[in-house]
Amino acid sequence: MKHLSGVVDSGIKAVREALGRAPSAKLGLILGSGLGFMAERLEKAVKIPYQKIPGFLASTAIGHEGNLVFGELSGVAVVAMQGRFHCYEGYDPSDIITPVYLMKRIGVEGLIITNASGGINTDYRAGDLIVIQDIINFSFQNPLVGENDENIGPRFPDMSTVLDMEWFERVKGRLKEKNKELKTGTYVYTLGPMYETPAEIRAFRYLGADLVGMSTVPELIACRHCGIRPFGISCVTNMAAGVLPQKLSHQEVMDTANRVKDTFANLVKVVVESYA
Ligand code: HPA
Repeated sequence: MKHLSGVVDSGIKAVREALGRAPSAKLGLILGSGLGFMAERLEKAVKIPYQKIPGFLASTAIGHEGNLVFGELSGVAVVAMQGRFHCYEGYDPSDIITPVYLMKRIGVEGLIITNASGGINTDYRAGDLIVIQDIINFSFQNPLVGENDENIGPRFPDMSTVLDMEWFERVKGRLKEKNKELKTGTYVYTLGPMYETPAEIRAFRYLGADLVGMSTVPELIACRHCGIRPFGISCVTNMAAGVLPQKLSHQEVMDTANRVKDTFANLVKVVVESYA
């Protein structure tokens, strides 16, 4: 990886100037395709455009606004990325994860990482919200490649638990009180930007994947590297290629994310309240 401590310092300085105070937050939120609306639901929100923050890239994907938003959710101080970066945009994998390290430096303890995905598991339906319990990195890229920055984390981070299980058990307990269940799944990460082929999806199912998408894994790796508790939530916006006799489109991804807005917002709130 690149030595990111310097760029994180510059980023924090810019954020402090924009906020007029030292930035801090207990939890972070990365909002994926079509899910950026959640940043509008924060109380006492202050938005900083990514262009003003060194180390933050341009967010070029449709449905990714490009603001870092400080605010509160259920009384908890949070910082939200309204839009994320993807390697398919042509970015270096190590540049994708700078925001995670910035969050660590301002005190973020837990990071809720959200995305839109294709459903491989035929028990899933478009609109389902699935907790990411494990990952398969099928991009063959890793954001930690290169000299390690020991100020950030160890050379060989442990990835034997991707999801913070204590946090997950608390979320499950709270949902049970409301008679609601939460499914978990394994997310396979592809580089994109094309959607997968039916043969690839069959192969991924055989490998044990339930969900497929083009994001999240770099940020999950960065969490485990720098010691932030990760909680991944995937919105199944469509069934993966070949599962249904229909073509895939970004419009369907955005439409489904839009349809489940309130359910998604409620789940994120429960996840935040379960941490506090
Ligand atoms: N494949 C990859 N990424 C995605 C998909 C998909 O089917 N849906 C939403 N993001």
